Amino acid sequence: MIRIAVLVSGGGTNLQALIDAQNRGELKNGVLAAVLSSRPDAYALERAAQAGIPGYVVARKEYASNREMTCALVAKLRELDIGLVVLAGFMHILTEEMVQAYPNAILNVHPALIPSFCGAGYYGLHVHEAALAYGVKVTGATVHFVNEEPDGGPIVLQKAVEIREDDTPESLQRRVMEQAEWQILPRAVSLFCEGRLSVEGRAVKISEGA
Ligand code: GAR
Repeated sequence: MIRIAVLVSGGGTNLQALIDAQNRGELKNGVLAAVLSSRPDAYALERAAQAGIPGYVVARKEYASNREMTCALVAKLRELDIGLVVLAGFMHILTEEMVQAYPNAILNVHPALIPSFCGAGYYGLHVHEAALAYGVKVTGATVHFVNEEPDGGPIVLQKAVEIREDDTPESLQRRVMEQAEWQILPRAVSLFCEGRLSVEGRAVKISEGA
């Protein structure tokens, strides 16, 4: 069993999708072992408690820099014997220490079809505001491995969502979550834990299941 840690900063609906998938037996060969929050008041911690998953606070404001916070996170993840790190609405850029500690073992969910609307400054509702401002007809979500470049690592899964003329950033965010994020994140986590993902350059290959 691969021990999974989920890093969060806010509401935790993606964490909830992982908890629900685990309860349905859809996280094969993986177990949600810890939730680490960058904010002490994140509702995601409540979701973790309700599911009986240990929650920890590594508060961004306690550290002078993203690097110091990243090093504290790495130490905690090692102590907990974590094999897969999942960024699920984690709103800070991790420094290279995390990627070095967990090469090709960190998954992030981003609420757009990378390489559109991604990188520094594109997070949360801002991503959907940017998609509507640009006037794209299709957006979606991406799960990718994390490397040194923000939102730049190899892509594991993507799912498209059509934009409606009456969409607001909030309505679009909700639909991207429901139709894309909450589906592809648990799926990607399970594929990783089943050992079915391999990275070849920028491409991620998915092998047949048993
Ligand atoms: C999600 O839409 C997630 O994709 C996004 O923040 C939201 C968190 O919601 N993450 C990013 O924008 C990271 N660049 P949640 O806390 O309810 O899962």
